[in-house]
Amino acid sequence: MKFFVDTADINEIKDLASTGLLDGVTTNPSIIAKSGREFLPLIKEITEIVSGPVSAEVAATDYYTMRKEAEVLRKIADHVAVKVPLTPDGLKVCKELSDEGTMVNVTLCFSAGQALLAAKAGAAFISPFVGRLDDISYQGLDLISDILRIYENYPDYDTEVLVASIRNPMHIIESAKMGAHVMTSPPSVIRQLYNHPLTDKGLAGFMADWEKSGQSIL
Ligand code: E4P
Repeated sequence: MKFFVDTADINEIKDLASTGLLDGVTTNPSIIAKSGREFLPLIKEITEIVSGPVSAEVAATDYYTMRKEAEVLRKIADHVAVKVPLTPDGLKVCKELSDEGTMVNVTLCFSAGQALLAAKAGAAFISPFVGRLDDISYQGLDLISDILRIYENYPDYDTEVLVASIRNPMHIIESAKMGAHVMTSPPSVIRQLYNHPLTDKGLAGFMADWEKSGQSIL
């Protein structure tokens, strides 16, 4: 499973990139607004830290303006994935950009039918939002399972399932069990994956016993 981080916080991105485990970055207009930074230079800076896909979202909703914005975004770097909303106009932009070899991340997916449309439009990534479905008492993870099952029936679809709107480590683990290709998560949830009380307890025990041995490696 590829790990993307869902943030525009440069310090967080640098820190996670230094682990060697980070495969990409996703942003959205809310994340950019929260950063307080200017959009285009910020995306450029992120692309210089991470060599994998960096999602940058259009800010318009009509076809013509989205298309023009996409031109600006994809010129930032070859590994920018232009993010478009799952609307008729968004998918029209997706099809054109994909045909021209630009990665497109189709966002705000809440149904398997929408994911089918995105695959037909040649999306590099489809982003189903599990947390927001959970928030309205639907099983977000059921959507991941449905999309993976549908995509498996059509091996000519190249679209990767990018599990988004992640709220906790179980969203990641259950998606990985199903074989989802990518997940994007807030930095805090990625860090939660490291934690287990038995790791802490075991390490404390090993360190105490090592101290008693009076030895050193270096
Ligand atoms: C995905 O690309 C989105 O940026 C993100 O995962 C949305 O998450 P949220 O529901 O926590 O805002």
